[in-house]
Amino acid sequence: MPEVPKPSGLDQIIPPEIRRDRFSRAIEEVGAAEGVRHILEIGASGGDGSTEAWVRGALRNPRRPELHCIEVSVPRFHALVERWRGHPFVHCYNTSSVPAEAFASEDEVARFYREVRSKLRNVRLEKVLGWLRQDLAYLAEHGVGADGIRRIKAEHGLAAFDAVLIDGSEFTGKPELEEVYGARFLLLDDIRSFKNWENFHRLREDPGYRLVKKSRWLRNGFAVFERTT
Ligand SMILES: C[S@@+](CC[C@H](N)C(=O)[O-])C[C@H]1O[C@@H](n2cnc3c(N)ncnc32)[C@H](O)[C@@H]1O
Repeated sequence: MPEVPKPSGLDQIIPPEIRRDRFSRAIEEVGAAEGVRHILEIGASGGDGSTEAWVRGALRNPRRPELHCIEVSVPRFHALVERWRGHPFVHCYNTSSVPAEAFASEDEVARFYREVRSKLRNVRLEKVLGWLRQDLAYLAEHGVGADGIRRIKAEHGLAAFDAVLIDGSEFTGKPELEEVYGARFLLLDDIRSFKNWENFHRLREDPGYRLVKKSRWLRNGFAVFERTT
C-alpha cells in the first residue's frame, strides 16, 4: 500500500503576523517610496499580514510597483491568491525561495543554538531541528523545491529588486539575502532569531547600507535597511 504522508504544520493556514504594528507601517512606507518598482516578499503566508502592508504602500505609489509574493505552503498560497485576486500588480508564486540544498544544515543550526543567545533558545533544540526537517520534507513532498527568487528575476528580466522582505523559512535567511543583495531596501523580520540574525549583523557592518528603522522588541525584532549609494 502506498504510504500516506503525515500532515505537516505547513498544511495549515496561520494568522497574519506583521499587522497593525510599527513594522507593517514601515513596509507600507517603503512600498509607497518614489522609485520603487519591483518588490519581493519572501513568506507571504495567507496574504493578510505583510502582504497587506505592501499592497497599501503600492496603492499609494503613483507608479504602482509590481509585488512578487513567494509562499511555499499550498493552502496558504491559495488563500493568498484568493485574497489579492483583482489586484493585477500582485503576483503570487507557490515555490521555495531557494532550493533545499541552500537550507542551513542541522550542524549549523545546532552550533548557532549553542553559541548564540538568541530567541531560538526559547524552544528546545530537538523541536527546532524538527522544524528544519519538516520544511525540507514539505519541499520534497510537494515538488516546490525550486529556486524561486532566481526564477522571478529571470522571468521579469530583473538584475535586482527595489525592495525585499525576508520573512520565509527560519532556515533560509542567509541564502535569500545572497540572492537579493544590492536591493535598495532590505527588510528583515526576526532579527533576534536564526532567520535574520546573521543578515542583520552583515548589513549593519556594510557601509553600503544604512539602518533606517529597527526594533529589538516587536516579536523577534525587525530592521529596515536602505542602500547608501
Ligand atoms: C513567519 S511566516 C510569514 C508571515 C507573514 N509575513 C505575515 O506577515 O503574516 C513565514 C512564511 O514563510 C513560508 N515559508 C516557509 N518556508 C519557505 C520557503 N522555503 N520559501 C518560501 N516561503 C516559505 C511559510 O509557509 C510561512 O507562511
